[in-house]
Amino acid sequence: MVKVAIVGLGFMGRMHAGIYGQFDDVEITALCDDLEENLEFSSASEGGNIAVGEMQADLSKAARYTDFSRMLEEGGFDFVDLCVPTFLHKPYSVEAMKGGYDVFCEKPMALSSEEAEEMISVSRDTGRLLTIGQCLRFWPMYVKIKEIIDSKQYGNVVSAELTRYSSTPGWSSRGWILDGTLSGNAALDMHIHDVDMILHYFGMPKSVTSSGTPAEGGGFGHIATIYDYPGMTVTSAGNWICSSSFGLVMRALIVLEKAVVELDSTKDPMLAVFPDGGERIVPELDPKDGYYNELRAFTDNVKNRTAPVVSAESAGESLYVALKEIESAEKNTPVSL
Ligand SMILES: NC(=O)c1ccc[n+]([C@@H]2O[C@H](COP(=O)([O-])OP(=O)(O)OC[C@H]3O[C@@H](n4cnc5c(N)ncnc54)[C@H](O)[C@@H]3O)[C@@H](O)[C@H]2O)c1
Repeated sequence: MVKVAIVGLGFMGRMHAGIYGQFDDVEITALCDDLEENLEFSSASEGGNIAVGEMQADLSKAARYTDFSRMLEEGGFDFVDLCVPTFLHKPYSVEAMKGGYDVFCEKPMALSSEEAEEMISVSRDTGRLLTIGQCLRFWPMYVKIKEIIDSKQYGNVVSAELTRYSSTPGWSSRGWILDGTLSGNAALDMHIHDVDMILHYFGMPKSVTSSGTPAEGGGFGHIATIYDYPGMTVTSAGNWICSSSFGLVMRALIVLEKAVVELDSTKDPMLAVFPDGGERIVPELDPKDGYYNELRAFTDNVKNRTAPVVSAESAGESLYVALKEIESAEKNTPVSL
């Protein structure tokens, strides 16, 4: 049995609990939230931009804590799953690793590259595993796109455009997500998903040129970027200042020499390949979702002492690029990487 402590029982923490509930080799032995009422699981507020399924986890063996340090001192788990607001990612990851625990930490890794570097160096010094919840690397549609690109079966990529548009998130505990100094706003909190995919697909660009629309609370509510890669055009936009009835729409349009790959969350099927001189192909996808796959992978890493699929270093690079995009939008000039 692998024993996990979940910290932060808001939208993501409850989602993770429900997923661990589907694993027969995982026991949730500790829960921590600084708001006592959130420890009564059913009373945590509803919300989030991806539907949260029915809660099925067995929480009967879970000790409840409002104090994170006390939970670490008392122990009784193998790893800590951090679903706390972003400004707590660095201090809580570092404390947990120094306390002897492996860490799954939600994205974005941190609020600055200095924080990310400290997390990486503590992971190295302590030998504790550290991964970041860049979950698109496990979502079947995005995994399939990578397979298609890497296979070169349709030639090289000509252009790629990845976008994510959402209503303003309204569920966060005490409104932390709309305070740019605590969350990094849309550019860090949401757009980082597409940044991470762009790096995963194409590697590090030479520079970024961004433009942003300021959000109330600081930071950008919309950011649009051109990434400099030789021989192809790569662009992305992230926006969470859409009207409340809009929901979440994600898209990726990858134009290859001999096909177009289209992901569109408003279409059914969401992923299709349009080859030159042929009919539309609907690729077969892994039926499990990205959250399930990422937690399954990290649980196996903890069990087998293997390196996480999403290395802390690679998540740190995605954070670095997103921060450079913010800098570019603020200064209204391209920024070299
Ligand atoms: N991977 C994804 O797709 C995805 C989606 C949503 C959120 N997230 C990330 O997950 C993290 C949490 O986001 P959320 O939407 O669940 O936020 P949330 O506000 O719904 O939940 C945060 C929880 O942490 C608790 N908390 C706050 N301070 C604490 C402290 N000092 N000690 C213990 N608990 C504390 C809050 O009471 C709340 O229950 C963020 O970093 C966010 O970016 C990731």
